[in-house]
Amino acid sequence: MRMFDLIEKKKNGKELTETEIKEMIHLYVDGEIPDYQMAAWLMAVYFKGMSDQELGNMTLAMAHSGDRIDLSHINGIKVDKHSTGGVGDKTTLAIGPIVAACGEKVAKMSGRGLGHTGGTIDKLESIQGFQTEIPKERFFQIVNDIGLSVVGQSANLAPADKKLYALRDVTDTVDSIPLIAASVMSKKLAAGSDKILLDVTCGSGAFMKRKEDALTLAKKMVAIGEHAKKTTVALITNMDMPLGENIGNSLEVMEVIELLQGKRKGELLEICIALAANMLYLAKIEKDKNITIEACEKMARDAVENGSALKKLSAMVKAQQGDVSLIEHPENFPKAAYYYDIVAQHSGYVFHMDAQQFGIASMILGAGRETKESNIDFAAGIALKKKTGDNVQVGDVLARVYTEKYDTVKEAEEIIRNAYCIKKEKPKPEKLIIAKVTKDEVIWY
Ligand code: URA
Repeated sequence: MRMFDLIEKKKNGKELTETEIKEMIHLYVDGEIPDYQMAAWLMAVYFKGMSDQELGNMTLAMAHSGDRIDLSHINGIKVDKHSTGGVGDKTTLAIGPIVAACGEKVAKMSGRGLGHTGGTIDKLESIQGFQTEIPKERFFQIVNDIGLSVVGQSANLAPADKKLYALRDVTDTVDSIPLIAASVMSKKLAAGSDKILLDVTCGSGAFMKRKEDALTLAKKMVAIGEHAKKTTVALITNMDMPLGENIGNSLEVMEVIELLQGKRKGELLEICIALAANMLYLAKIEKDKNITIEACEKMARDAVENGSALKKLSAMVKAQQGDVSLIEHPENFPKAAYYYDIVAQHSGYVFHMDAQQFGIASMILGAGRETKESNIDFAAGIALKKKTGDNVQVGDVLARVYTEKYDTVKEAEEIIRNAYCIKKEKPKPEKLIIAKVTKDEVIWY
């Protein structure tokens, strides 16, 4: 096999065979295909796309390029969930405990944040003492005991993806739908769960800004999951404004605790209930053919209302050596040295929010990483006081920013002001759950 021939094939829009794909990924990981040739092939994919067969083969080859987690030591069906990312996206922290409280198993590997998107592992590490790197056996034991554990991805999980992603990042081929689908699904398949629920975010804070693209990505990822013989379902959810009210690591954990205490209603709760219900359905349908999504939704709501989901969060924090008193008293999370209120200069309605800009402002305040090596400030971030659809009067607080570095406030303020679009007219409310994609159908809500 010559890489030159594979580049030419893809450049002419032809399909690579399974053998060619496997060999290409294998040789690339081993360093026998140079970056410049792989970059040329990725750019050809960017313009010519990939067939479902080709994409399925490439994803499996990437998933098999390193460690594969064998979750058979954990009893029962294991359901995984993955979000394609957003701003203020703390759903894993709420959904894991809800699903565990309803009797199903969540053995989850999560990532860290980079750029404008946050990562679940950073959020969990804002709980003092919380261990995200624990031995595999302990991870299995915690899930067997309490139904839930969230850990960092093992260093050798899908190394082909790590290498390809770094190359895509510097060759402007990140935003290729088949390449995103292969990247996400290679990690999900290597992580070993039986069922996969995908949260494909759509809007100004997401990779996919347009519904058509979110649908294409969702369909491709579902097809890859099914190609690998794992039931895979995707929900397309609204990320046209930051999710919930807080952006930043401990701020988001505090918001989740309040949500599980039943103190927060609204869009974050509704998205968490919808995602949790779909995870529960994927697990429970194997044992009870008559289960309905409505029944799963009720179970998820009950788990929040009766406090059992909050107890699961505490149990996981305790098992992973975090300071469990913070779950009982979230007001004791360390505070940022400074806060500053951004007040409205015009009256009207918040007509639109550029969610990505809020993510960037939060990163500048210290909550995110500009590069992989940056340190993060767990207490930094933004608490939104006004969101899309809210009425605003001159002098109202739009958002409160928190930071250790006061010199970042002016820049963050300017970004946040520009990210709020305030108009005289009230915007039409948008759907939170846009569509559900299964191997058989697309349901629009
Ligand atoms: N998230 C991933 O894991 N990979 C991508 O390519 C994009 C988002």
